[in-house]
Amino acid sequence: MAEWTNLREEQKLRKLVAQGLSWQQIAKKMGRGYNSVRGKGRSLGLQGKATPATWQLVIPDEAKRVRIYHNATNGKGDFLVIGDWQIPCTDWNLVQEALNVAEKLGLKQLIIGGDFLELSALSPFKKYVPEKIGLADELECGYKVMGQLVEMFDTIYFLSDNHWTRLAKAIYEARGDVPSPQQLARILTDSKKVKILDFCWMTVNNHWRLTHPMQGRNIPLSLATTLSAKYQSHLVCFHGHHFRLGLDISGRFVICDAGGVFDPKKLAYTQLWDTSHYVTNQGFLAIKDDRLIPFWKHPNLATPPEVW
Ligand SMILES: [Fe+2]
Ligand SMILES: [Fe+2]
Repeated sequence: MAEWTNLREEQKLRKLVAQGLSWQQIAKKMGRGYNSVRGKGRSLGLQGKATPATWQLVIPDEAKRVRIYHNATNGKGDFLVIGDWQIPCTDWNLVQEALNVAEKLGLKQLIIGGDFLELSALSPFKKYVPEKIGLADELECGYKVMGQLVEMFDTIYFLSDNHWTRLAKAIYEARGDVPSPQQLARILTDSKKVKILDFCWMTVNNHWRLTHPMQGRNIPLSLATTLSAKYQSHLVCFHGHHFRLGLDISGRFVICDAGGVFDPKKLAYTQLWDTSHYVTNQGFLAIKDDRLIPFWKHPNLATPPEVW
């Protein structure tokens, strides 16, 4: 194709662009190739129109029913935060301690950071471990504890988790469809105060991300560090049964492994078999005035109530 040496041709190009023609239409009118016209136009700083579509995609109606996973829950204000209860394998004294803290600090909102129920009756390990109580009793324990929490708190957020998922899976296998979060919630409570989420995470005050991730790591704060970088947020991590507190590498974000109120002595899989798995740590948190307060359970670490 000929070089663009003819000034008149260049003027024609400018005129056609000004008329709103597409590069393809201009190329046809000028007897030049599409790339030649578009390249010259762009070198002159001209904006040609995209080639008009002649074929319109029809999105199937069925596809419009696909859920878009956004708008996860955000809680605002102050909270008592307790993860990994593993009911009934729970340290009840520690739960009492956490509730005392809520009363002392005037916390009327509770975040249950997942693993509220152990549901060992639905565990793949149940065939190796003689359980003392069955599924019905486990659910009854959860129902009775939730009933008391509903009395005490105005709002209770309940993160989804790997143990709660066992329940959904069992129901799916029994009846062939996945129960809704609302149907699952009714196993524990009818109270509207309890918000059972089908997300494993929520945010608090729009910049804390509290999550019960579907994976774990041996090194404390390792997963919280990664997730904090990924989501650019303060990060509180349940599920790992570590209890640690720190800052991310930028010093901007608080990262926390949030322990739990499980009782390690009641968890068969941590007691019956020796493994190289780390030793777990108990603990719980409060978020008050947008600051995190850790309640360590270690003989050589003071917890805030002892300090105040
Ligand atoms: Fe857990
Ligand atoms: Fe978990």
